[in-house]
Amino acid sequence: MRTESICLKDRFQLDDSVLKKGFNPYYLSINSEQNDPVYVNGKEVVNLATNNYLGLSNDSRIKEVYIDAIRKYGISMCATPIAGGYTELFEDTQRKLASFIGVESVILYPSCYQANNGIFQAVAKKEDLILFDRFAHSSLIQGIRSVGCRSLPFSHNDVVSLEYLLEKYYLSPKIFVVTESVFSTEGSIAPFKEICELCRKYNAIPVVDDSHGIGVIGRKGKGILSHSGIDDDDVIYTTSLGKAFANNCGVVGGSKELINYLSYSSSHLIYSTAISPSVIAGINKTLDIVKEEYDVRAAKVFRYSNLLKQALVRNGFRVADSTAPITSIIAGTSEDTIDFAKKLFDNGVFSTPFIYPSVRKNDGRIRLIAGANIKESSVNKVVNLFEHWN
Ligand SMILES: Cc1ncc(COP(=O)(O)O)c(C=O)c1O
Repeated sequence: MRTESICLKDRFQLDDSVLKKGFNPYYLSINSEQNDPVYVNGKEVVNLATNNYLGLSNDSRIKEVYIDAIRKYGISMCATPIAGGYTELFEDTQRKLASFIGVESVILYPSCYQANNGIFQAVAKKEDLILFDRFAHSSLIQGIRSVGCRSLPFSHNDVVSLEYLLEKYYLSPKIFVVTESVFSTEGSIAPFKEICELCRKYNAIPVVDDSHGIGVIGRKGKGILSHSGIDDDDVIYTTSLGKAFANNCGVVGGSKELINYLSYSSSHLIYSTAISPSVIAGINKTLDIVKEEYDVRAAKVFRYSNLLKQALVRNGFRVADSTAPITSIIAGTSEDTIDFAKKLFDNGVFSTPFIYPSVRKNDGRIRLIAGANIKESSVNKVVNLFEHWN
């Protein structure tokens, strides 16, 4: 029997010493639209902290569609999709999304975190094996762990390390190989074609999270399947539409059979309130805009990213080896990383600092994403800051 009582607040003490040095870069208060500049804690800054790659998060055409959908269908479905259904916009959006991504069919979860968290429980069993890139996103890792099967990491983007594990464990009943397409903290791109070839050789199922790939890589921004030249229904595909697509929700794509199976067996979908009608309408409109405008918008994003990377390298900063338009500065300890973000913020630049446990200990990152809504003069201002950093 317990002899002393433990106060709840004593049980949930966060080690936040690193955030108590006068600047906490997390959960900041935004006071304006997602424009350039943006106002954060009342201060005017260049926003390089969001994943607004194509600069669509404040697009007036998408805003209009949201408002029209609210007028026509209301705000919330107030029910899970299996019970209360979707609006009539859903089927058209579903069909357009599947064709854009290059899969037979898709379903929509409220978020990609929820999708990644839920799919493994639905498709894998305790006796199966899941191999995953060691830099895979938390949502994938948590989802994989929830199955309770054997799961092993392979070295980042390393097909030799992956094949070693496939060869060793190929007798497992089912094997899943899990990767991101564009890695969110590094900007590196998975060798997904080679991963799929290995999966075919060892009868494994590839799973790819394209959250930072859709709208960013591939022809017309179609993402990793287009980028890798893959036309295959045996892939399990997930993506967030809260980044380049500037809306909200998680997509799972694959064969019609997979999608039908998940529709009736994935608890993360079945027991969660359906996506709001305005969001479905917004995604539908965004698809049309991306198809038309990807080339111009993406050219800007890649050019900005090259300007930032070149300025950093020229001035002696260490930068992760990225091919996607993510600039990831290697910043060291958590303290150093927060200090770096503070100095950027003091100089009018809003960045994303990644510290342990989001990244390895003492391997902090400052991520910069200059979306297509950012002015060239703002990018030049940031370049100039790196030229005169010390
Ligand atoms: C690689 C990756 N996967 C999944 C997610 C989760 O996506 P969502 O915001 O739609 O839940 C994120 C978001 O940070 C991400 O970076």
